[in-house]
Amino acid sequence: AAAELGPYRHYMQKEIFEQPRAIGDTLQGVEAITPELFGEGAAAILEDIDSVLILACGTSYYAGLTAKYWIESIASITCNVEIASEYRYRTSVPNPRSLVVTISQSGETADTLAALKHARSLGMDKTLTICNVATSAMVRECSLAFLTRAGVEIGVASTKAFSTQLIGLYLLTLTLAKLKGRLNAEQEADAIKALRHLPVAVQSVLALEPQIISWAEEFVRKEHALFLGRGMHYPIALEGALKLKEISYIHAEAYPAGELKHGPLALVTDQMPVITVAPQDQLLQKLKSNMQEVRARGGQLYVFADAGSNIRNEVGVHVIRMPEHYGSLSPILHVVPMQLLAYHTACARGTDVDKPRNLAKSVTVE
Ligand code: G6P
Repeated sequence: AAAELGPYRHYMQKEIFEQPRAIGDTLQGVEAITPELFGEGAAAILEDIDSVLILACGTSYYAGLTAKYWIESIASITCNVEIASEYRYRTSVPNPRSLVVTISQSGETADTLAALKHARSLGMDKTLTICNVATSAMVRECSLAFLTRAGVEIGVASTKAFSTQLIGLYLLTLTLAKLKGRLNAEQEADAIKALRHLPVAVQSVLALEPQIISWAEEFVRKEHALFLGRGMHYPIALEGALKLKEISYIHAEAYPAGELKHGPLALVTDQMPVITVAPQDQLLQKLKSNMQEVRARGGQLYVFADAGSNIRNEVGVHVIRMPEHYGSLSPILHVVPMQLLAYHTACARGTDVDKPRNLAKSVTVE
């Protein structure tokens, strides 16, 4: 095992650093946006849908939540995302023209498989999985599949599976947009160019590790943390909070920043670190005023900005600047420092990073 780990201390760290490779592999052979990316016969299914229903658990669920922002804004198709264990037991209104999309690293998560069966039993038989294991039950059970090529993921806390799921979901978004006449040739070429450049962009984010380690050293003594994001970066804040709680055992919560004033602001004191995902997008001005609300209560801000954000280091405001601004694909870049922050905080606290207490890599029983 030591040899396999190479220069890394844990599988999780190795897997975080494998992301440029994993993303590159997942994009291999993607020359154009076409339904065939999702398997034979995909065109007939994808042309016929009027909405998308995503079912997943854990980190895969947060990939789904990110995709909702993409699918509705880029493809203009209604998208609902549900936690599999909830969906399987609630009474919902089935739509036979909905595309059911399961997202799963393992392809064996019991709740996700059961949610898929439940959807099918309600007459929804247009099914697609975004999955990392070609031989899994999920791939066998779904009509269509997009295989992520993250490779074997050993760390219980998912990292490279998440970023490659986002690649699959972005390609699905573009495919649906194209089928609806919402993606012209120029936009398609630009999107493929941006995807192809992603491994390099992720590599440059990984180079921020030393700065993130210095933040992690400040987080060691914290017992609570709040994560904020807006729009398609709200799910990235959720994923950041999940990573931190899973492996460092620090209590962490994520909120869409606009919701601060409806509750979490009551918790903000100078003891509360507030991690903020702050790319340069149309919500940045709003986010900046949310940040001022935190500062006014003495909260310590830890901000992940990007090339266009224009947020400066000052008292109580710590900024790490990502090298590029990446438009729609920005969530894929912004999740990387979340992973590294959780990882290094856990290391500094001396927890069992690859096998956090009480958690399993793949939950194959209910
Ligand atoms: C477990 C793992 C998580 C994972 C979730 C869903 O809770 O610890 O990392 O996100 O299951 O797993 P799946 O294999 O369906 O993506």
